[in-house]
Amino acid sequence: MGVSGPRRRWFSIRNAFARAFILAFVMVSIAGFFLQFDANVSSTLAHTATSAKDAISQQMPTVSELLSSWVDSITPSTSKPSIRPSRNMTCGADRNKLRRWQKQYGLRNTFEYLKRYVQVNRLPIPRSSITWINQTFLAGESRVMDSNWEPEDASCPDPLVVPVSQSPFPSSANASEFMFGVSTTYQRFIETRTSPINEWSYWLTNGHGKSNGGKLILKLFDATDDQLQEAQTKLTGAGIDADVYRSEPQDIMAVRYLSLVPAMFHHPARDIKKWLVLCDDDTFFPSIHALSEMLAEHDHTRPLYIGALSEDVNNVQRHGSQAFGGAGIFLSVPMAERITNRYDSCRSDQAVNEANSGWGPQGDILLRRCIYANSEVRLTLLHGLWQLDIFGDPSGFYESGLRPLSLHHYRGGIWHIAHPWHYTKVAHVCGEDCTLQRFQTADNFVISNAFSVAFYPRGIDFDLKQLEATFGPAPDDKGWNFDFAMGPRRPSLHKTGRKISWDLQEATLNEDGTVSQVYVLKHDDWRWKNPDGAPMTSRDSVIELVWMPDEEEENGV
Ligand SMILES: *[C@@H]1O[C@H](CO)[C@@H](O)[C@H](O)[C@H]1NC(C)=O
Ligand SMILES: *[C@@H]1O[C@H](CO)[C@@H](O)[C@H](O)[C@H]1NC(C)=O
Ligand SMILES: *[C@@H]1O[C@H](CO)[C@@H](O)[C@H](O)[C@H]1NC(C)=O
Repeated sequence: MGVSGPRRRWFSIRNAFARAFILAFVMVSIAGFFLQFDANVSSTLAHTATSAKDAISQQMPTVSELLSSWVDSITPSTSKPSIRPSRNMTCGADRNKLRRWQKQYGLRNTFEYLKRYVQVNRLPIPRSSITWINQTFLAGESRVMDSNWEPEDASCPDPLVVPVSQSPFPSSANASEFMFGVSTTYQRFIETRTSPINEWSYWLTNGHGKSNGGKLILKLFDATDDQLQEAQTKLTGAGIDADVYRSEPQDIMAVRYLSLVPAMFHHPARDIKKWLVLCDDDTFFPSIHALSEMLAEHDHTRPLYIGALSEDVNNVQRHGSQAFGGAGIFLSVPMAERITNRYDSCRSDQAVNEANSGWGPQGDILLRRCIYANSEVRLTLLHGLWQLDIFGDPSGFYESGLRPLSLHHYRGGIWHIAHPWHYTKVAHVCGEDCTLQRFQTADNFVISNAFSVAFYPRGIDFDLKQLEATFGPAPDDKGWNFDFAMGPRRPSLHKTGRKISWDLQEATLNEDGTVSQVYVLKHDDWRWKNPDGAPMTSRDSVIELVWMPDEEEENGV
């Protein structure tokens, strides 16, 4: 269908929820009588119900019911979006795609699915942390998918129209002023869970297999000649301009790290570079244009040491006041020259001993001590670089509307899990500023673009400018570890019944120039419970957002 048919408002909200409710009710009935639900729900039924009818009325709400009970009173905006959609919209779901999601994300047989188009409207305005959209997020009903579901042609509601700044696209970035140095193991480089190749292809290429001019010096520990060659081939194949070397096997980790400085300084490509950048294999730069712009405010012809402290005050106390390498450390060439000249003394056994904070010798400490002992240069803080020494649910950070210059520690383990390579896909249709930019709708949804779609059933009665304390520091938690970097945070809404969110799991740049994002909500998510411990919803659900480029701009207007 799409735009070829006459466009009309699909249903009024009130109507839509009445229908959704009936549909959901039917589904629950079927489930109740044929016992297709999982043990969890069945035992709830057995425990509380005296009859099937009671069972149904005491059933936990589905997503649609949950939403309908709160959104009912909101008048949907009747104003037509001011611009036409730039693409044909199709809302008939693709069965294969749904099946794949179900398997990949462990959804139950019956789940709800909602698809919504978003029309990007690029205007000469500044980036706003949160933008009010005078439309409702819900404009039709979510559909209930199960094994009996038949594909159908469905028309789409009008797209959400979001005004955004005219920030540059990642494909036009020129990173030729940077050389990046990373030291890691072959094993981490190659394993699917830890391999940084996809992430590097975002900030070291134009997104279409060509280098953006940024140079990567990769030192691999524990690699054979064949493995070095394999790594080189993989990187070159991804369009990344990289040179792969073997780390000195006798060096400890802190020294392998410091050795990146002379390796970059002696590299022939250094002549045309302004900044030699130390980073970890899980450092991510979401906005290369913005990064260049921020660094342009500093004089690269002077010796400079630029970076970020850990945002956890405990870690600063523990390890010292220095640039924490995961956030990225930017050395001007004259600074790197001075370190290179003093390299032997900076890496001596004594220096290594002195770089031991009680947690083993630290490369970041070795670097700081080398610089501070041999120059008057002191750390320059660059706001927006993030070490992200955070534990637990990182939503409060990623939903804060900020525009980070770097991200780190997103591969799980003891740290948080995030998918920055997927998050930044939307920048290809919307510009770099769009990543993690927030849009608030008239029905109390907040889209934190590419991270989550959150719904606040009791309204938004808190300060969206403050971070939500969904995450914590590594032990010990003083209660104010992050305050110097993030400000005091508002209380977490976990388990309050006041928030429920769909989190982005994947995003794709489509052939027609749109970007699809897949946000998933699991019924048993530990966060989305009412104060009495009951889940806020009994259904898994998926929201698919499809971002359409600004056609006016595409045409060069
Ligand atoms: C939002 O839309 C409604 C209904 O179309 C209109 O009455 C209202 O003035 C609009 N508000 C703003 C802030 O544009
Ligand atoms: C939308 O579909 C119509 C009819 O199928 C087609 O003529 C038109 O080119 C399509 N427009 C876009 C932007 O793809
Ligand atoms: C980047 O800029 C440099 C110098 O301004 C230029 O020589 C180079 O061709 C550009 N590279 C890319 C990939 O655009």
